[in-house]
Parts: sequence; C-alpha cells; structure tokens
Amino acid sequence: MAYCAKEDRYETMLYNRCGKSGLKLPAMSLGLWHNFGYGSSYETAREIILGSFDMGITHFDLANNYGPPAGSAEEAFGKMLANDLKSYRDELVISTKAGYDMWPGPYGNFGSKKYLVASLDQSLKRMGLDYVDIYYHHRPDPETPMWETMDALAGLVRQGKALYVGLSNYNPAQLKEAAALLKEMGVPCLIHQHRYSMLQQDNAALIPVIEEAEMGSIAFCPLSQGLLTNKYLHGIPADSRAAGKSVFLNENAITEDLVKKVSALNEIAAERGQSLAQMALVWALKAGRLTSVLLGASRISQVEENVKALSNREFTEDELKRIDEILK
Ligand SMILES: NC(=O)c1ccc[n+]([C@@H]2O[C@H](COP(=O)([O-])OP(=O)(O)OC[C@H]3O[C@@H](n4cnc5c(N)ncnc54)[C@H](OP(=O)(O)O)[C@@H]3O)[C@@H](O)[C@H]2O)c1
Repeated sequence: MAYCAKEDRYETMLYNRCGKSGLKLPAMSLGLWHNFGYGSSYETAREIILGSFDMGITHFDLANNYGPPAGSAEEAFGKMLANDLKSYRDELVISTKAGYDMWPGPYGNFGSKKYLVASLDQSLKRMGLDYVDIYYHHRPDPETPMWETMDALAGLVRQGKALYVGLSNYNPAQLKEAAALLKEMGVPCLIHQHRYSMLQQDNAALIPVIEEAEMGSIAFCPLSQGLLTNKYLHGIPADSRAAGKSVFLNENAITEDLVKKVSALNEIAAERGQSLAQMALVWALKAGRLTSVLLGASRISQVEENVKALSNREFTEDELKRIDEILK
C-alpha cells in the first residue's frame, strides 16, 4: 500500500540542536545496524522505518557494512527511499559511515582517501541518493595520517556528496586533533558518535572535547544492545538479539550480576511509571549530554515504547543517587 506520512508526526518528538550547527536532530534517532539486512524481513524493516518517521524520527543512521551481508541495509533502505519516502527526502537526515572492512585488499577499510571516496560513492549508489546528510569516519586509522582522512572528508563535503562530517569511536586526543584539522579546512565536525549507556559510561573525557569543538554527540547502543530492558530478567527469549545470530551479543553477556543490576534498575523505572528501556534512554540523553540516542529495534512496538520516554525526562536527586549506587 502506498505510504503517506502521518500529519501529526512532528507533534511529540523533541529536536535538539547539534552542537553549534544549523542542524537539529531528533532526541531519538534510528540505527540500521541489526535487523535491516537481507537476513531480516523487508516488511518488518519497512514497518520500523516508516513507523519511526511517523513518530517524528527524522534521522536514520547507516554504515557501508551494515547488513549482513555488508551493504544490504543501505540497499534495503534505498528501496524504501525510492518506493515510500521519495517525497520526504528533505525531511530526513541520513548518515552513513566508512572505516571497517568493506571490500578485500588494501583499499577496503580504515581511513585512506582512496577508501573513503570510493566507499561514499558506493553508499550513494546503494541508497539511490545524490548526497548523504552526514558522512562519518567510522573508526580512527592508526596508520593513515590524520590530515589525509580529514582532507578526504572535507573534500566530499565540498563536492556536495555529504552535507556534514561526523567522526565515530575516536578517543579524546584523536577527536581533538581531528576537530582542529577539520576546522582549519573550513568544514567543522558536526558530531561525534560513541558508545554510551548506563552500563558503559566511558565518555567522561570526550565530553569536554566535544563541547569545546562545539559539535553534537550521539550515542550508540544506549540500551547496551537490549540488556537495559526487562527482556533478559527471566531467561533469554528465543527472539532476542542474545539468542540470535549476532556476533556482537550472546548469552554470556547475561550474567547473574547483570540480572541483579537490571532488576534493581527496573524497580526504579517502575516507580517512575516507565519501562526500564524508557528510563535508560532518557537517563543516557541527560547524563551523557547527548544531542540524540541511536535506537536499534527488531519491531516497531519497541520504537513506540521508547519514544514515549521523552514525556518523562526529569530525574530527582534521589533517583540519580540510587541509579549511581546500583551501577557502581
Ligand atoms: N559507530 C559505531 O561504531 C556503532 C556501533 C554500534 C551501533 N551503532 C549504531 O547504533 C545503533 C543502535 O545500536 P543498538 O541496536 O545496539 O542499540 P540499542 O538500543 O542498545 O539496542 C537495540 C536492541 O535492543 C532491543 N530493544 C530495543 N528497545 C526495546 C524495548 N523497548 N524492549 C525490549 N527490547 C528492546 C532490541 O533487540 P532484540 O533483537 O533483542 O529485540 C533492539 O534491536 C545501530 O543501529 C547503529 O546505527 C554504531
């Protein structure tokens, strides 16, 4: 059936300015790392993407290697863009990345100009786009001179193939150096993307660098791939990421200690009238001083539940103290 976006899609989502740029991002964005490749149902993926847009999620995050197989999430998303979202292109912020292994040989990964230019061309082709809104370097390259990587990114912006540049998984010193180079080149870094959740809070040293460079920040795995939900409290559901084929999460992550922590957090969430997922997301936004959190989802009901969290974003001092105690 032809898709027509909901009229009221912008009424409840919160939009935050990305650093000191002109761009606003939804407080909750959607990532296509899992569940959007050829191994997943296209109809379910379409339901998640279109349903998310109907809730005001304007930002969709991809990478060259998302699938499996690598490239297939971009291809599936490209099909949805062509069939359903064509007339909404200017309402979308689409990002992609390059940095991890994409094709064989010495030019298919890391941060050379050779790789970054070719990879963006491939991504644009797979998605059927003239430009992406944000092009990320996905991980720092220990060998390529930082100048070359930043020059490649800045050049792609000048060519109009990307509107903004982002960096991901850089440590504070690397981010500082890269941000200074990009500024000098006249293409300031828009945003940094890093892992952040109640269970993985290792961004303290990144925050001052991000704020000094006036960029925004977006967290990946804000629910620690689903661990920060109530789904693993009584075993491992067959349809969960931990039980599935993902090489990034398996049952070994569900330890007794984790379940104890998650149960205690779940009690605080219930007192707040929220699910644990909802509380974990708004906590991450606030504690991580983030522009946006990147949701992952295996079904649309998860996104529906998660965006509702935005109506209860405040924490009492007592709640914050109790959460810290549990996470110690
Ligand atoms: N830059 C990088 O290096 C990098 C690395 C990783 C990820 N990312 C980005 O970050 C995005 C998000 O990562 P992520 O998928 O790991 O995020 P996440 O939000 O930590 O985990 C998402 C998973 O949690 C479960 N879930 C979500 N909401 C739920 C709810 N309300 N109730 C129960 N379970 C729920 C679902 O898993 P089930 O399958 O169990 O239902 C879902 O797929 C990625 O898509 C990607 O765009 C970037």
